[in-house]
Amino acid sequence: MDSIQSRNQKGFTLWFTGLPCSGKSAVADRVAEVLKEQGLNVERLDGDIVRKDLTRDLGFSKEDRDENIRRVTFVAKLLTRNGVAVLTSFISPYRQVRARARKEIGNFIEVYVKCPVEVCIERDMKDMYKKALNGEIKEFTGVSDPYEEPINPEILLETDKETIEESTQKVIKRLNDLGYLP
Ligand SMILES: Nc1ncnc2c1ncn2[C@@H]1O[C@H](COP(=O)(O)OP(=O)(O)OP(=O)(O)O)[C@@H](O)[C@H]1O
Ligand SMILES: [Mg+2]
Repeated sequence: MDSIQSRNQKGFTLWFTGLPCSGKSAVADRVAEVLKEQGLNVERLDGDIVRKDLTRDLGFSKEDRDENIRRVTFVAKLLTRNGVAVLTSFISPYRQVRARARKEIGNFIEVYVKCPVEVCIERDMKDMYKKALNGEIKEFTGVSDPYEEPINPEILLETDKETIEESTQKVIKRLNDLGYLP
């Protein structure tokens, strides 16, 4: 059932960007839960899931990464303009591609999930850094492929210094300050 609150909801996209294992998915999942509890219509677009479906034909060359984000941007734009709270979590390492997403989507909130690469390497849940460091995986962001840091993100999270819960509260507070929460 549609509540009055969700019908009046102003759509936005929270765009989480950062190195592999920086904590994009972990924090975005938690923020999504909190927003759902507040009665918002929420959609998550996560790198691991999207790459198995919408963009399963793509690899990790610059060209394919750009195409991956181009398709995600298109979907996020459709959802945002229909009042959904969209949370995307993609490495999205290129500044120009994020700038394009910002322009296309409109209500765009860039969340830089900052974490030193050494800490990301310690986390390495999927053994991806290990494979990148021994050369099994090529073009791995942070090891053999560039990550261009956001210059002026709306939200900066430092996941080596704050807990998932603290990062989550930071995002919620900023959304509230920006007038996106009912
Ligand atoms: N303060 C913190 N903030 C976020 N994640 C943390 C924090 N401390 C520990 N972690 C853990 O670090 C891991 C981060 O993994 P996560 O999958 O969220 O990274 P990711 O940025 O989505 O990586 P990928 O680009 O590979 O999808 C999780 O297991 C999470 O529980
Ligand atoms: Mg992730």
